[in-house]
This record gives sequence, C-alpha cells and structure tokens, in this order.
Amino acid sequence: MFTVANQKGGVGKTTTAVNLAAALAMQGLKVLVIDLDPQGNASTALGVDHREGTPSSYEVLLGEITLGDAMRRSPHSERLFCVPATIDLAGAEIELVSMVARETRLRNALAGLQKYDFDYVFIDCPPSLGLLTINALVAAPEVLIPIQCEYYALEGVGQLLRNIEMVRRHLNPALTVSTVILTMYDGRTKLADQVAADVRAHFGDKVLRTVIPRSVKVSEAPGYGMTIIEYDPGSRGAMSYIDASREIAARDQHAAGQPPQRPAPAQPPAGRPAPTGQQAPPPPAGSPAPRPAQ
Ligand SMILES: Nc1ncnc2c1ncn2[C@@H]1O[C@H](COP(=O)(O)OP(=O)(O)OP(=O)(O)O)[C@@H](O)[C@H]1O
Ligand SMILES: [Mg+2]
Repeated sequence: MFTVANQKGGVGKTTTAVNLAAALAMQGLKVLVIDLDPQGNASTALGVDHREGTPSSYEVLLGEITLGDAMRRSPHSERLFCVPATIDLAGAEIELVSMVARETRLRNALAGLQKYDFDYVFIDCPPSLGLLTINALVAAPEVLIPIQCEYYALEGVGQLLRNIEMVRRHLNPALTVSTVILTMYDGRTKLADQVAADVRAHFGDKVLRTVIPRSVKVSEAPGYGMTIIEYDPGSRGAMSYIDASREIAARDQHAAGQPPQRPAPAQPPAGRPAPTGQQAPPPPAGSPAPRPAQ
C-alpha cells in the first residue's frame, strides 16, 4: 500500500497513482486507488463519478460510511477500483483539526480493507502536507514520491522527508519511502538528465530505473476519463508506466521470496534515463501470480 505524496503541485502524483494502478490491474492484479485530493483528479482519470453528494473519501474519513460504501469499479477495468474524492473534502483539512484521532482516521477506516483482497492500494494526496496527507502517511506503510524532471525538482522534498520521519516516529513505525519515480522526463534537455542524476544520487535504488517521459497523450487521457493504459496502450507513456509497474511488482515478489514470474524487461544501468516505451517489449499476455497483499 502506497501513499503517493509530494507537496509540490503538478509533479505527476495523480498521473502516477492512476497509471501504475491501471498497469498493475492490466497484469491481473486487483488494485484500489483512494482519492484523497479534493480536486478529484484521480477519480476523473479512472472514470469514476465524483460530483458533490457522491459517497466519497470525505464521509469515509469522517466515519460516516465504510470504505466499501464509497468504493466504485473503474468502467475500464474489472480489477481497478476507486474511492472517489468530492469537493466536500476541501473542508476536511479544517474539520479534522478539532476531531478525535484526527491523524488516524483513514487508518481506522482501512481496517475493513482486508476482506477485499487488493494486491495494491494507492492513496493519491493533495499538494500539501496537511492532515489529509498525514492521514495517508499514517495509513500506509510505503511512500511513493514522484519527482518531476524540472527546475527545483528537489525543492520541498526535504520538508516532505522530515514530515515522513515525524509520522514514522510517532504514528506509523513501519513507514518507509520505498519508491521514487522520475516523471515528465524530456530527453532533449540536459537539465532533465541532471535532475535525474541528482535524484538518483540522493535516493539510490529507491528510484525506479524506468523514467516516465513527457508525453502529450498522458495529459490527454484524463479528459476522456481514462488512464493512458486504456487511452493508448501502445504509447510511450503507457509502456513506461507498465515498465514501472513491473519493476514494483518484481521487487515485491523478490521481497516475498518468490522468483519473478517472467524475465523483467532489459533496463539500462542506474543513473541513465530508461528508454522510452517505444523500445520496450509489448506486455505479456496473461498475468503474473498475485503477490501476498501487504
Ligand atoms: N508524463 C507526462 N507527460 C505530459 N504531461 C503529464 C505527464 N504526467 C503528468 N502530466 C500532466 O501534468 C499535469 C500535472 O500532473 P498531475 O495532475 O498528475 O500532478 P499532481 O502532482 O497530481 O498535481 P496536484 O499537485 O495538482 O495534485 C497534468 O495536467 C497532467 O496531465
Ligand atoms: Mg494530483
């Protein structure tokens, strides 16, 4: 279970959460995305209704309804589910302040998650380090940080890491930053390579070898209520998110002591940008064995 967090806006949190989720679902895994951003961008991309009044993560946080009451299946995949966010969530940041157990409300709500047997859960956070993000960090054991290959990429990451450390110390001892993903990589700029090298120097092998290229298709997909995996499965953007999802799945299988189900796609050495999806092999038919749920 991952919290997808970076308080910097527009770095690819939502795009990464929904596309990794869709890529894992395509490989036969059962995946849930919890939209914890009042903007509801993850819900939109997954084609899930998030108009005001829809049962959503807001009521789940308040303890008014269960997770199951708010969970919807994405229309494009049998195995992809979403707890949508409505604009109501915008008030939650303030309403939570005066509530009992304000930091642990999502964790409490997720106590009923086990029976759904999800292989992966992604929590999409808003661009802030407020109570919504804290609730996610308390609820999930792993943090996935998307970093945009742009100027000031690492700006604010120090603050994020300090907050994560604070949550780990006081509220969630299991919490780790397990994964960093480089997004919106533009191979034509030297800057992108420099940022990628800096991030790898800082985070080492937590950084996925697959780099997500900047691609117009990726940004178009949500407009159709789709992920890039459904909108244009053969595109570079789709291929790169599929490669990234395989890296995550292979790593988790390795950690669980299972041999990988099939050879991982060839990867370039760390420190160099990965090839874009065009060179990547097509996705295999069928699906890998589900790994044990976390
Ligand atoms: N690889 C990509 N190529 C091109 N555009 C992208 C790519 N990834 C994301 N985008 C676009 O960049 C914008 C920001 O992405 P996204 O919404 O995923 O970021 P975010 O971190 O979730 O933003 P926020 O902080 O507002 O929640 C969106 O318009 C998205 O479509
Ligand atoms: Mg977002």
